[in-house]
Amino acid sequence: MTTITILGSTGSIGASTLDIVAKFPEQFSVVGLVAGTNDEKLEEQIRTFQPNIVAMADPAAARRLRDRLSDIQLPVLDGMAGITEVAQYPESNLVISAIVGGAGLLPTLAAIQSGRRVALANKEPMVMAGQLMQTEAQRQGQQIFPIDSEHSAIFQSMEGHRKADIRRVVLTASGGPFWDTPPEEMATATRAQALQHPNWKMGEKITIDSATLMNKGLEVIEASWLFDIPAKQLDVLVHRESIIHSLVEYHDGSVLAQLGLPDMRTPISYAMNYPQRVPLLPPPLDLATIGKLTFFPPDFDRFPCLALAYEALQGGGTWPATLNAANEVAVGAFLNNGMRFLEIPNIIRQTMDVALPQPLTCLEDALEADRYAREKAATFIQQLP
Ligand SMILES: NC(=O)c1ccc[n+]([C@@H]2O[C@H](COP(=O)([O-])OP(=O)(O)OC[C@H]3O[C@@H](n4cnc5c(N)ncnc54)[C@H](OP(=O)(O)O)[C@@H]3O)[C@@H](O)[C@H]2O)c1
Repeated sequence: MTTITILGSTGSIGASTLDIVAKFPEQFSVVGLVAGTNDEKLEEQIRTFQPNIVAMADPAAARRLRDRLSDIQLPVLDGMAGITEVAQYPESNLVISAIVGGAGLLPTLAAIQSGRRVALANKEPMVMAGQLMQTEAQRQGQQIFPIDSEHSAIFQSMEGHRKADIRRVVLTASGGPFWDTPPEEMATATRAQALQHPNWKMGEKITIDSATLMNKGLEVIEASWLFDIPAKQLDVLVHRESIIHSLVEYHDGSVLAQLGLPDMRTPISYAMNYPQRVPLLPPPLDLATIGKLTFFPPDFDRFPCLALAYEALQGGGTWPATLNAANEVAVGAFLNNGMRFLEIPNIIRQTMDVALPQPLTCLEDALEADRYAREKAATFIQQLP
């Protein structure tokens, strides 16, 4: 029996993880759940999966949850201290890290530090402080297991092969909702249009990141830390159908890839069951019916966020944390305050220009870069006409 804690259980990845738990109740039991503000959904999950301990980021939501659960005995913790305690819960042997954004850094790091096995969907902490997270995992004798479909594909295509034999790694990208959209239409893109992802149903922040291609940029940085591969060996290929989830090319010309229908339950289940593959029984991948798969080089001019991410990775130190924080603030302003879509890369560019890379040697360096970039990005947004 694998005992599981889910950080971000009320989100898209959290819900897919619980789907798998429900399908295989003899293999998994949920011991800890963490959410942000959605006490109604968390209550449902608690009544179905009966964890031993839960936490919510928002103390008011945690109070509402305690009221809802007055008929059962369950510790409901709150704030970052509460979330971190659940992340380190000793009776859990697998932590699914699925909070959105940099908010997941401290709890994910805490889970690693406490020796839990961590499966990572929450890519932003890896972008902010990948080296620290990997150093900590190595100290604990653990490997951070990828959940992102691209990283799961890369992991699977590297298994049994020598890293030294890799020529390059190619992350595929759907291109998002605006791949074929002329720039003048992108300039006036609405929130609803940007949230229309062609292939995946995901949380709002990652869906906007997919529309700007920042998601692919964050994934390039994540791949660099997860697999210890430099930027110059990491390429992006636009593949509209999201069937090939990424490829690894070897020096002898062989290219290995992992294919599947776009359904996050496949990589999540692989991370939960590794090295077993359990019968999820999705519809079969029928390539004859799909007929053709299409590929395009990425367009760095129309999607400058991807170029910014490569620049941050190459700049190193605190720059990826700066990029990530400025992006979170800019995406938030687009989603909640009506900032124009094409201002997102401009805000990140301006922030990176005033927050040049500094050495990142400890957690404080990453947190300070994050704090400073958020402050600067918010100021640049306020200055917009
Ligand atoms: N969705 C996908 O298919 C997919 C694929 C690959 C990677 N990922 C990555 O996985 C992560 C989660 O994505 P998602 O699409 O599942 O996002 P989502 O649907 O927006 O869910 C986010 C989760 O994080 C919780 N949360 C937000 N702020 C929090 C905070 N400060 N403290 C604690 N919990 C907090 C939310 O709780 P409330 O709802 O209760 O506020 C929710 O449970 C992201 O990093 C994303 O890049 C997602």
